[in-house]
Amino acid sequence: MVTVAILAAGRGTRMKSSLPKVLHPLGGKSMLERVLDSCSLIQPSRYFVVVGYEAEQVKASLSHRENLEFVLQEQQLGTGHAVQQLLPLLHDRDEDLLVLNGDVPLLRPETLQQLLSTHQQHHNAATLLTTQLSNPQGYGRVFCDQNQQVQEIIEEKDCTPQQKQNQRINAGIYCFNWGKLAEILPELSTQNQQQEYYLTDVFSSVSPVMAMDVSDVQEITGINNRKHLAQAYDILQERIKEKWLLAGVTLINPDSITIDDTVELSPEVTIEPQTHLRGKTVVASGCRLGPGSVIENTQLGENVTVFSSVLRDSTIEAGATIGPYAHLRGNVAIGNDSRVGNFVEMKNTQVGEGSNVAHLSYLGDATLGTEVNVGAGTITANYDGRNKHHTSIGNQCKTGSNSVLVAPVSLGDEVTVAAGSVVTDDVEDDALVIARSRQVVKPGWRLKDSAQR
Ligand code: UD1
Ligand code: CA
Repeated sequence: MVTVAILAAGRGTRMKSSLPKVLHPLGGKSMLERVLDSCSLIQPSRYFVVVGYEAEQVKASLSHRENLEFVLQEQQLGTGHAVQQLLPLLHDRDEDLLVLNGDVPLLRPETLQQLLSTHQQHHNAATLLTTQLSNPQGYGRVFCDQNQQVQEIIEEKDCTPQQKQNQRINAGIYCFNWGKLAEILPELSTQNQQQEYYLTDVFSSVSPVMAMDVSDVQEITGINNRKHLAQAYDILQERIKEKWLLAGVTLINPDSITIDDTVELSPEVTIEPQTHLRGKTVVASGCRLGPGSVIENTQLGENVTVFSSVLRDSTIEAGATIGPYAHLRGNVAIGNDSRVGNFVEMKNTQVGEGSNVAHLSYLGDATLGTEVNVGAGTITANYDGRNKHHTSIGNQCKTGSNSVLVAPVSLGDEVTVAAGSVVTDDVEDDALVIARSRQVVKPGWRLKDSAQR
């Protein structure tokens, strides 16, 4: 059986942030959440998360996850000290303990599975992930004997210039026989440059310890500052885009596109440059998105086109076209084959099938039926300064240019609103509403005495 412990108590001083390092977002999820995700192929009997700096905030960020046991490391005295906190909690000495640094977010689940099975097959006291880096700066150096047995790990700050030449680095991902680790953990000292209890010091006291080189060095990228975070983001993006390209999605100029890994795409989707897909966005086949669009937590049916627009928390049914320059701010539903054109803003609005909102409109807190034509410049005046009110527009209505619908107000089916109207009262089916002053023309009128002007 295996127990997982994720070390997430540090502040991450080098991030220069008040947000705990492990909560920094990386493509729509926190680093910590990614580390948890990397355990998806192993079935741990227990999950410990060691928290300290801003512990409550870290816990709250994982409140949707079940079966986590949070362990408080009140003072962050080092990675060894973090694991020491498990001593009073984990009594089963036969257990294997997988220790993961909370700031190593790109590990693949398969790699952890392999680490665990290598560890168990060889009956190691400890097995750790390593790799050789041409630029090993910032990592602890791993020293092995001729038989690939790890003898010690020396933190970079404690290395002699000679030792720094060693390019084999410690990824901060380990599997331990808990019984053996628990015996030596209490003996750690702080006699090192950083005056911390290093977990890495245990390796000179246990054996056999095996180093397992990862095949993809990008997986073990540790995040200590925002430069690393940006690099990790690029690695993640490369992985995500490769996956979708091979799954039949066209990306035009992929470098200018970003896609969260929470997004779901279908084959035959085309994404044009400068388009960013975020959160729980789902895109059906035949959609063409971009250039220049941001789409977040939005579901798109088949063959939708979105051009230079911003869509959030919305649903767009099949065949609809959006943009250019539309802004759907949230809780918007656009029916099949409808069209939302330039400079149209919507919020909390449902538009029925086959409708057109083609130019220069604001629709907020509104329900529109099917085949409605919203004229240029139509506005729902939904806010009276205190409360928001609802506007209802029936099927096959037409609003004239520059009409204002003052909510709460309701138009029946097949209502026509004359251009420039300010509609304040409900209108029944099949009616024409004209709510503006009548035009007055005075023939032959001019200023009587133009000399006085
Ligand atoms: C650590 C390793 C180093 C390795 C590198 C890989 C040690 C001593 N060094 O160094 O060999 O190459 O990771 O990325 O382990 N943490 C706690 N409590 C603490 C201190 C840290 O929970 O008291 C957590 C941090 O939140 C972080 C993780 O442990 O998630 C690693 O800590 P960090 O200070 O970043 O270690 P490194 O110096 O990177
Ligand atoms: Ca680190």
